[in-house]
Amino acid sequence: ATPLLVDSFGRVARDLRVSLTEKCSLRCTYCMPEEGLPPIPDEARMTTEEVIRLVALAHRELGVHEVRFTGGEPLMRQDLERIIAGTRAECPDLPIAMTSNGVGLEHRIDGLVDAGLDRINISLDTVNRAEFAELTRRDRLPSVLRGVRAAVAAGLDPVKVNAVPMRATLHGAPDLLEWALAEGVQLRFIEEMPLDADNTWSRVEMVTAQEVLDSLSTRYELIPAGRDDPSAPAELWEVAGHTAGGRPATVGVIATVTRNFCAACDRTRLTAEGTVRSCLFSDDEMDVLGVLRSGAPDREVADAWRGAMWGKQAGHGIGGTAFHRPRRSMGAIGG
Ligand code: GTP
Ligand code: 5AD
Ligand code: SF4
Repeated sequence: ATPLLVDSFGRVARDLRVSLTEKCSLRCTYCMPEEGLPPIPDEARMTTEEVIRLVALAHRELGVHEVRFTGGEPLMRQDLERIIAGTRAECPDLPIAMTSNGVGLEHRIDGLVDAGLDRINISLDTVNRAEFAELTRRDRLPSVLRGVRAAVAAGLDPVKVNAVPMRATLHGAPDLLEWALAEGVQLRFIEEMPLDADNTWSRVEMVTAQEVLDSLSTRYELIPAGRDDPSAPAELWEVAGHTAGGRPATVGVIATVTRNFCAACDRTRLTAEGTVRSCLFSDDEMDVLGVLRSGAPDREVADAWRGAMWGKQAGHGIGGTAFHRPRRSMGAIGG
């Protein structure tokens, strides 16, 4: 048997994304219902030690070469620093990243970096306070802006900012880029996927990457700059006349729907309950935490994980006739 996480289409998963919690300090409409996601019982959620053991095992036995902690909001876990420090101790060479909404980040960033955090992506869709409050159902824009600044000040490089453009916020795209250029962060726009809890996504309403580029071009000259690597979801554009850290400044678009990158997907995911999900859009989940809790050795947990990835579907199929929405929303799977 091959030691790597290979699927039946020959793709190799090396990028592990771990959702640590379903809880979040915001309620973005494209991700979560107003009342939040159904709570996971405490005993069902992976403990500090279990997260560390599963990540270390994926790194040692399964060829995973980067881990990203997501949620929900990973800062909602008080043991996040310990999870990162433990992962760093077990896997000195594994790059550790996180995706966060930035709320309250200013108070934790130094501790996270000391623990071993290498990179951070912060989600922010608009720099207009009223629109932010409307979209996230919480008036927390100032805290997020301070969080971004704190991440840059802590020396994380690059700091990326993810924006999901909606009809109501598209007009603010050039303002968001202007802010990102001033702060020295890399902005990326992500096409909304049908992963919202309220089932309001529609292909017609969805803002496309092309629309975002057209909007940005009203204020900036954009020069195509390709992808960082073939499996990177973001296509980059240089912003003429602007630099970041001595290099040309770039802005990215992640065209999840109109130019999907499923054929080059290198992801494997763990939900907060310790199940492996081979694709964002697949409802099949393999309970590797259950295998681990049964007392099985790492080798058996790794076998179960490999088995789950072998059956990974070809792609999300959004827009096709066979498409069906996954049962869980983005906040539950881990962006
Ligand atoms: P970098 O390694 O820093 O480039 O990060 P990333 O792009 O892998 O991670 P990030 O969490 O910033 O993800 C960006 C966005 O891409 C996510 O918010 C999702 O909307 C989308 N995305 C992430 N993983 C997948 C995936 O497996 N499939 C699809 N279709 N979209 C994904
Ligand atoms: N479509 C695309 N991206 C989404 N995110 C959350 N929900 C969706 C969706 N329906 C993004 C967040 C964050 C990352 C974790 O996933 O904005 O950047
Ligand atoms: Fe929370 Fe992120 Fe979902 Fe917004 S996108 S509700 S910040 S998990």
